[in-house]
Amino acid sequence: MRIVVVGGCGHVGLPLSVALAVNGHRVVAFDISKTAVEQVNKGHAPFWEPGLNELLLLAVNSDFKATTDPKSVSDAEIVVVIVGTPIDLHLNPDPNAVVSAVADIAAHLNDKQVLVLRSTVFPGVTEQVERLLFNLGIRAPVVFCPERIAEGFAVQELSELPQIIGARTDRDFIRASDLFKTLGVKTVRTTPEEAELAKLFTNTWRYIKFAAANQFWMMANDSGVNFDNVRDAIRFEYPRAADFPAAGFTAGPCLFKDTMQLAAFSNNTFALGNSAMMINEGLPLYVVERLSKKYNLANTKVGLLGMAFKGESDDNRSSLAYKLKRIMKFKSAGVLTTDPYVKNDIELVSEEEVIASSDLLIISAPHMRYKDIQTEKPIVDIWNLRGNGSAV
Ligand SMILES: NC(=O)c1ccc[n+]([C@@H]2O[C@H](COP(=O)([O-])OP(=O)(O)OC[C@H]3O[C@@H](n4cnc5c(N)ncnc54)[C@H](O)[C@@H]3O)[C@@H](O)[C@H]2O)c1
Repeated sequence: MRIVVVGGCGHVGLPLSVALAVNGHRVVAFDISKTAVEQVNKGHAPFWEPGLNELLLLAVNSDFKATTDPKSVSDAEIVVVIVGTPIDLHLNPDPNAVVSAVADIAAHLNDKQVLVLRSTVFPGVTEQVERLLFNLGIRAPVVFCPERIAEGFAVQELSELPQIIGARTDRDFIRASDLFKTLGVKTVRTTPEEAELAKLFTNTWRYIKFAAANQFWMMANDSGVNFDNVRDAIRFEYPRAADFPAAGFTAGPCLFKDTMQLAAFSNNTFALGNSAMMINEGLPLYVVERLSKKYNLANTKVGLLGMAFKGESDDNRSSLAYKLKRIMKFKSAGVLTTDPYVKNDIELVSEEEVIASSDLLIISAPHMRYKDIQTEKPIVDIWNLRGNGSAV
């Protein structure tokens, strides 16, 4: 098939584009980022994703290319849209992000194509796109097929996770299904509205589970009980608690903003989602408050180990490590930060310098390399990476 992926050089657009290309499709990744397009065409992914560079090299040597030219869309049988859908500083979703990306390429769309929306959207966006196309006289059907991969597992999960397909007609379902089946995955049929909510519920469900673990961790911590022993005891040969998460900073480009999209969708009556947000976003404040009882922070230099939003990732979008940094900058004698993966932060220094110059170290992203750091200095480890306990 001939496929154009709009937003095809992004964190989820690129893995999908190359996965489709190595599975025999002719794929064009259309993206407005000139830098990303240039890098991709040279065979370098603009971000770290295990296994992606190897696949990208295979793809650029087959029928795949990246472009900033929107006219590329006109040649496609299937147009996949996977642009970013961030919330603003006041936690409002932008329901127009996808609609305006489609409006920008509308001049190059035609009735024979299928439009596959794949961004995580505010409910009702699929219908808005349908209305936009209808008003422009374009009769291409629109299906909503959410992306559910996790960063760090994209390459593996694209050929494993069942694909939800929100389609209005049998024909639309079959056309979208045929595309995803070439990746070797099963498909599940819903309406577009069900698929939109399915994606938001998926991420919000995870966000709430992490918030529950974080709240339990704070409770145990406050009462002097070892949270890790409690969690281990609960999970020991007890499958119903197998998914009880560890404590940790829960943030990043998806879970938080999708919970906020759902909160806005429910007219800000989503008490559970908003509580989860208060707990997860409040965790750096809690950690600092606890540390201020043990240390004279005003005289303490603090070193933050890891600035990405999660372990083994270079993605620092919405990372709570930065919130911790801001609070510590205000309260402590100084903050140094390091991360072996993050490339877009000019304030980072080497791990050696952070360890040598700090009085107190905090693991702020659970990169596995921090498991084995040798130092006499105290290390705060809320993920319990080092196995010495998560207590603060
Ligand atoms: N990052 C994840 O792990 C993940 C997982 C599942 C779903 N999602 C969802 O996928 C969507 C994309 O997320 P992401 O993390 O890949 O974002 P991203 O910012 O990494 O990628 C988006 C890409 O779209 C490009 N772009 C923006 N506007 C465009 C336009 N009008 N035309 C063409 N290209 C355009 C950007 O240059 C960028 O390369 C979001 O809705 C997100 O919620 C993300």
